[in-house]
Amino acid sequence: MTGPIIAPSILSADLARLGEEVRAVDHQGADWIHIDVMDGHFVPNLTWGPPVVAAIRPLTRKPFDVHLMIAPADPYLEAFAKAGADHITVHVEAGPHLDRSLQAIRSMGKKAGVALNPATHENSIAHVLDRVDLILVMTVNPGFGGQAFIPQALAKLARIRQMIGARPILVEVDGGITTITAASAVKAGADVLVAGSAIFKGSKPEAYGENIRALKQAAVPAIVA
Ligand code: DX5
Ligand code: ZN
Repeated sequence: MTGPIIAPSILSADLARLGEEVRAVDHQGADWIHIDVMDGHFVPNLTWGPPVVAAIRPLTRKPFDVHLMIAPADPYLEAFAKAGADHITVHVEAGPHLDRSLQAIRSMGKKAGVALNPATHENSIAHVLDRVDLILVMTVNPGFGGQAFIPQALAKLARIRQMIGARPILVEVDGGITTITAASAVKAGADVLVAGSAIFKGSKPEAYGENIRALKQAAVPAIVA
Protein backbone atom coordinates (compact mmCIF):
# COMPACT_ATOMS: atom_id res chain seq x y z
CA MET A 1 0.00 0.00 0.00
CA THR A 2 1.41 3.37 -0.92
CA GLY A 3 0.77 6.21 1.41
CA PRO A 4 2.32 8.98 3.40
CA ILE A 5 5.38 8.60 5.58
CA ILE A 6 4.21 7.99 9.15
CA ALA A 7 6.23 9.50 11.97
CA PRO A 8 4.98 8.58 15.47
CA SER A 9 5.68 11.30 18.02
CA ILE A 10 7.13 9.69 21.13
CA LEU A 11 5.72 12.54 23.19
CA SER A 12 2.60 10.39 23.54
CA ALA A 13 4.48 7.17 24.39
CA ASP A 14 4.55 5.63 27.86
CA LEU A 15 7.67 7.48 28.95
CA ALA A 16 8.45 5.04 31.75
CA ARG A 17 8.96 2.45 28.98
CA LEU A 18 10.35 4.74 26.28
CA GLY A 19 12.78 2.24 24.78
CA GLU A 20 10.14 -0.48 24.45
CA GLU A 21 7.74 2.02 22.93
CA VAL A 22 10.29 3.05 20.28
CA ARG A 23 10.89 -0.60 19.41
CA ALA A 24 7.16 -1.23 19.29
CA VAL A 25 6.34 1.51 16.78
CA ASP A 26 9.38 0.51 14.73
CA HIS A 27 8.15 -3.08 14.49
CA GLN A 28 4.59 -1.94 13.86
CA GLY A 29 5.41 0.02 10.72
CA ALA A 30 6.60 3.49 11.70
CA ASP A 31 8.66 5.06 8.91
CA TRP A 32 10.38 7.68 11.05
CA ILE A 33 10.56 8.36 14.80
CA HIS A 34 9.50 11.94 15.61
CA ILE A 35 11.22 13.39 18.67
CA ASP A 36 9.83 16.63 20.14
CA VAL A 37 12.37 18.74 21.98
CA MET A 38 10.89 21.54 24.12
CA ASP A 39 12.66 24.13 26.23
CA GLY A 40 9.99 25.74 28.44
CA HIS A 41 10.81 29.06 26.75
CA PHE A 42 10.01 28.84 23.05
CA VAL A 43 7.08 26.63 24.01
CA PRO A 44 5.36 26.31 27.40
CA ASN A 45 6.52 22.77 28.07
CA LEU A 46 9.74 20.82 28.67
CA THR A 47 10.79 17.46 27.33
CA TRP A 48 14.29 16.10 26.78
CA GLY A 49 17.68 16.79 25.26
CA PRO A 50 20.46 15.00 23.38
CA PRO A 51 21.14 12.30 26.03
CA VAL A 52 17.65 10.86 25.56
CA VAL A 53 18.08 10.86 21.78
CA ALA A 54 21.42 9.05 22.20
CA ALA A 55 19.88 6.55 24.64
CA ILE A 56 17.18 5.40 22.21
CA ARG A 57 19.39 5.61 19.10
CA PRO A 58 20.60 1.97 19.29
CA LEU A 59 17.02 0.64 19.47
CA THR A 60 15.97 1.30 15.87
CA ARG A 61 17.41 2.00 12.44
CA LYS A 62 14.48 4.22 11.47
CA PRO A 63 15.35 7.88 10.82
CA PHE A 64 15.19 10.13 13.86
CA ASP A 65 13.13 13.20 12.97
CA VAL A 66 14.10 15.71 15.64
CA HIS A 67 11.75 18.69 16.00
CA LEU A 68 13.45 21.43 17.97
CA MET A 69 10.99 23.72 19.75
CA ILE A 70 13.82 25.61 21.39
CA ALA A 71 15.26 29.11 21.16
CA PRO A 72 18.05 29.60 20.51
CA ALA A 73 18.56 26.39 18.56
CA ASP A 74 22.03 26.98 17.10
CA PRO A 75 24.04 26.18 20.25
CA TYR A 76 22.45 22.70 20.39
CA LEU A 77 22.49 21.58 16.77
CA GLU A 78 25.79 19.75 16.98
CA ALA A 79 24.79 17.91 20.16
CA PHE A 80 21.62 16.60 18.50
CA ALA A 81 23.57 15.63 15.38
CA LYS A 82 26.05 13.70 17.50
CA ALA A 83 23.26 12.08 19.51
CA GLY A 84 21.92 10.47 16.34
CA ALA A 85 19.40 12.82 14.75
CA ASP A 86 18.92 12.24 11.02
CA HIS A 87 16.68 15.23 10.42
CA ILE A 88 16.95 18.38 12.50
CA THR A 89 14.08 20.84 12.23
CA VAL A 90 14.27 24.36 13.62
CA HIS A 91 11.41 26.84 13.89
CA VAL A 92 11.40 29.91 11.69
CA GLU A 93 10.22 31.87 14.75
CA ALA A 94 13.08 30.66 16.95
CA GLY A 95 15.74 33.12 15.90
CA PRO A 96 16.91 35.76 13.45
CA HIS A 97 19.39 33.60 11.54
CA LEU A 98 17.38 30.81 9.98
CA ASP A 99 19.64 30.60 6.95
CA ARG A 100 22.67 30.09 9.20
CA SER A 101 20.91 27.37 11.23
CA LEU A 102 19.95 25.47 8.08
CA GLN A 103 23.46 25.69 6.67
CA ALA A 104 24.85 24.44 9.98
CA ILE A 105 22.53 21.41 9.97
CA ARG A 106 23.49 20.44 6.42
CA SER A 107 27.17 20.97 7.13
CA MET A 108 26.86 18.23 9.77
CA GLY A 109 25.54 15.87 7.11
CA LYS A 110 21.96 15.96 8.41
CA LYS A 111 18.70 16.76 6.65
CA ALA A 112 17.63 20.31 7.42
CA GLY A 113 14.05 21.09 8.33
CA VAL A 114 12.16 24.29 9.00
CA ALA A 115 8.92 24.45 10.99
CA LEU A 116 6.21 27.14 10.89
CA ASN A 117 3.77 27.87 13.67
CA PRO A 118 0.10 28.23 12.71
CA ALA A 119 0.23 32.06 12.68
CA THR A 120 3.42 32.25 10.60
CA HIS A 121 3.17 33.18 6.93
CA GLU A 122 4.69 30.94 4.29
CA ASN A 123 6.65 33.90 2.89
CA SER A 124 8.95 33.56 5.91
CA ILE A 125 10.57 30.56 4.24
CA ALA A 126 10.58 31.84 0.65
CA HIS A 127 14.30 32.59 0.68
CA VAL A 128 15.52 29.39 2.27
CA LEU A 129 13.84 26.86 0.00
CA ASP A 130 17.17 25.82 -1.51
CA ARG A 131 18.55 25.11 1.96
CA VAL A 132 15.84 22.78 3.28
CA ASP A 133 15.04 19.11 2.90
CA LEU A 134 11.89 19.21 4.99
CA ILE A 135 9.18 21.76 5.79
CA LEU A 136 7.09 21.10 8.89
CA VAL A 137 3.70 22.82 8.93
CA MET A 138 2.39 22.98 12.49
CA THR A 139 -1.32 22.18 12.60
CA VAL A 140 -1.53 22.97 16.33
CA ASN A 141 0.32 25.51 18.45
CA PRO A 142 3.44 23.63 19.50
CA GLY A 143 3.98 22.46 23.05
CA PHE A 144 1.57 19.64 23.74
CA GLY A 145 0.16 16.47 22.28
CA GLY A 146 -3.56 15.82 21.99
CA GLN A 147 -4.66 19.23 20.72
CA ALA A 148 -7.25 19.95 18.04
CA PHE A 149 -6.14 20.32 14.40
CA ILE A 150 -6.21 23.90 13.07
CA PRO A 151 -7.80 23.63 9.61
CA GLN A 152 -6.57 27.07 8.46
CA ALA A 153 -3.10 25.55 8.18
CA LEU A 154 -4.18 23.51 5.16
CA ALA A 155 -4.36 26.49 2.78
CA LYS A 156 -0.85 27.45 3.84
CA LEU A 157 0.33 23.89 3.29
CA ALA A 158 -1.07 23.93 -0.24
CA ARG A 159 0.68 27.25 -0.98
CA ILE A 160 3.96 25.89 0.38
CA ARG A 161 3.61 22.87 -1.89
CA GLN A 162 3.32 25.27 -4.84
CA MET A 163 6.30 27.33 -3.69
CA ILE A 164 8.45 24.20 -3.54
CA GLY A 165 7.94 23.44 -7.22
CA ALA A 166 10.29 20.67 -8.31
CA ARG A 167 12.67 20.92 -5.36
CA PRO A 168 13.21 17.63 -3.48
CA ILE A 169 11.58 18.83 -0.25
CA LEU A 170 9.20 16.80 1.90
CA VAL A 171 6.27 18.51 3.59
CA GLU A 172 5.34 17.32 7.05
CA VAL A 173 2.26 18.08 9.14
CA ASP A 174 2.36 17.93 12.90
CA GLY A 175 -0.47 18.26 15.40
CA GLY A 176 -3.98 16.90 15.70
CA ILE A 177 -3.48 14.29 12.98
CA THR A 178 -6.21 11.65 13.06
CA THR A 179 -7.69 9.40 10.38
CA ILE A 180 -10.01 12.31 9.54
CA THR A 181 -7.47 15.14 9.37
CA ALA A 182 -4.82 12.92 7.71
CA ALA A 183 -6.87 12.72 4.54
CA SER A 184 -7.21 16.49 4.18
CA ALA A 185 -3.54 17.05 5.02
CA VAL A 186 -2.39 14.63 2.32
CA LYS A 187 -4.84 16.13 -0.13
CA ALA A 188 -3.34 19.57 0.57
CA GLY A 189 0.12 18.19 -0.19
CA ALA A 190 1.57 16.59 2.94
CA ASP A 191 4.11 13.79 2.44
CA VAL A 192 4.73 13.05 6.11
CA LEU A 193 2.19 12.68 8.92
CA VAL A 194 3.42 13.16 12.49
CA ALA A 195 1.01 11.69 15.03
CA GLY A 196 1.29 11.20 18.76
CA SER A 197 -2.02 10.48 20.42
CA ALA A 198 -3.56 8.88 17.31
CA ILE A 199 -0.78 6.28 17.21
CA PHE A 200 -0.10 5.59 20.89
CA LYS A 201 -3.78 5.23 21.82
CA GLY A 202 -4.57 1.70 22.89
CA SER A 203 -1.27 1.49 24.80
CA LYS A 204 -0.08 -1.77 23.25
CA PRO A 205 2.01 -2.65 20.19
CA GLU A 206 -0.80 -4.30 18.21
CA ALA A 207 -2.91 -1.17 18.65
CA TYR A 208 -0.01 0.98 17.40
CA GLY A 209 0.18 -1.15 14.27
CA GLU A 210 -3.53 -0.78 13.62
CA ASN A 211 -3.35 2.95 14.24
CA ILE A 212 -0.42 3.38 11.82
CA ARG A 213 -2.19 1.36 9.13
CA ALA A 214 -5.40 3.32 9.69
CA LEU A 215 -3.55 6.61 9.10
CA LYS A 216 -1.93 5.32 5.91
CA GLN A 217 -5.24 3.96 4.69
CA ALA A 218 -7.14 7.16 5.52
CA ALA A 219 -4.77 9.12 3.32
CA VAL A 220 -4.94 6.80 0.29
CA PRO A 221 -8.17 8.19 -1.26
CA ALA A 222 -6.56 11.62 -1.09
CA ILE A 223 -3.56 10.35 -3.07
CA VAL A 224 -5.66 8.62 -5.72
CA ALA A 225 -8.05 11.57 -6.11
C1 DX5 B 1 3.42 19.33 19.44
C2 DX5 B 1 4.38 18.34 18.86
C3 DX5 B 1 3.74 17.20 18.21
C4 DX5 B 1 2.85 16.38 19.11
C5 DX5 B 1 1.71 15.91 18.27
O1 DX5 B 1 4.09 20.46 19.86
O2 DX5 B 1 5.23 18.97 17.91
O3 DX5 B 1 4.69 16.38 17.52
O4 DX5 B 1 3.48 15.30 19.69
O5 DX5 B 1 0.81 15.24 19.08
P1 DX5 B 1 -0.66 14.88 18.59
O6 DX5 B 1 -0.51 13.99 17.39
O7 DX5 B 1 -1.24 14.18 19.76
O8 DX5 B 1 -1.33 16.18 18.24
ZN1 ZN C 1 6.58 17.66 16.65
